[in-house]
Amino acid sequence: MARTVRFHEIGGPEVLRLEDLDPGEPGPGEVRIRVDAIGVNRAEALFRSGRYIEPVKQLPARLGNEAAGVVEAVGPEVTGFEKGQAVSVVPSFSHNDYGVYAEQAVVPAGALLPRPDGTDAVTGASVWMPYLTAYGAMVEVGGARAGDVAVLNAASSSVGLATIHTARRLGVTPIAVTRTRAKRQRLLDEGAAEVIVSDEENVADGVLRLTGGKGAEYVFDAVAGPGVTELARAVAADGTLFLWGAQSGQPTPYPGFDLGMPALNMRTYTMLEVTRDPQRLRRAAAFITSGLRDGAFRSVVDRLFPLEDIVQAHRHLESNTQFGKIVVVTGPR
Ligand SMILES: NC(=O)c1ccc[n+]([C@@H]2O[C@H](COP(=O)([O-])OP(=O)(O)OC[C@H]3O[C@@H](n4cnc5c(N)ncnc54)[C@H](OP(=O)(O)O)[C@@H]3O)[C@@H](O)[C@H]2O)c1
Repeated sequence: MARTVRFHEIGGPEVLRLEDLDPGEPGPGEVRIRVDAIGVNRAEALFRSGRYIEPVKQLPARLGNEAAGVVEAVGPEVTGFEKGQAVSVVPSFSHNDYGVYAEQAVVPAGALLPRPDGTDAVTGASVWMPYLTAYGAMVEVGGARAGDVAVLNAASSSVGLATIHTARRLGVTPIAVTRTRAKRQRLLDEGAAEVIVSDEENVADGVLRLTGGKGAEYVFDAVAGPGVTELARAVAADGTLFLWGAQSGQPTPYPGFDLGMPALNMRTYTMLEVTRDPQRLRRAAAFITSGLRDGAFRSVVDRLFPLEDIVQAHRHLESNTQFGKIVVVTGPR
């Protein structure tokens, strides 16, 4: 039996329960892993509370799609993985089908990446989702080139920090947007070229000031809602506004008409555009692994929680006070 987190009703962090369940045997195309560390991300809080882009189809439901551990059993038709191998799980499956908030979990083999030598479980559970999100939008979809400017909000989130590191790796100038002054210096320390504090300055005015009126080739928006009209003003001609999160929880207008119909490129984006495409995932893994090897990419861990404190881990996520990734570690009872 494995301690496993499930929820029996939609709601706040308190609906998460730890239960003893049989993890089962892997079926065709599946692998069972011992889970050592779990990355906690916003999508899981949204799924748990019924606000995710995909509704909960069945209760009780499992949760979690980022983890690191060791292969315990390999199902039929799986090649390339063997018992005892250290692996990471990257988000590529539906929350309705699998969940890694557990001591043992069955996952599709297509969601596994070998863990590079020297990458510990906490790092292996916390780097993939943020860097895959940043790399996919900036490189695979956006075609970013050295000298471009990228603006990103929710800068202290794991995705925000990975976007700063990825931009630096590509020679792109990252302008970080954070709500309050509290996290400003740490963002500069992580590589932000400039930090705009959105409680103090209009973001579009700040970007135009910092870019000589030109705007940014890329604006990555994790907040959405009414603020997109301002963010769209910060996009350079032929630039793109990527909507990759909806922290505001409010409806998002299309700002093109309000701005006088500029040629505004605006698109939604999820990292599934990378993780569900084997060629893109192979390139992404090579890019991210090379950054991890030479230290350009790293896990910025905000706080570790034991599995039995999963409710507190979700409460902390929703406090929005974190800087970086929240990670849950499994361990002895
Ligand atoms: N599209 C994709 O494939 C994809 C994949 C993963 C994550 N995401 C999105 O990326 C974002 C970050 O996710 P995460 O799991 O790394 O971190 P997270 O823990 O969800 O991010 C928390 C941070 O978001 C900012 N924030 C929270 N509420 C806000 C609000 N109402 N207005 C403005 N900023 C707010 C705060 O940063 P500051 O204090 O610095 O302002 C806060 O520390 C989320 O929106 C998530 O949905 C998208």
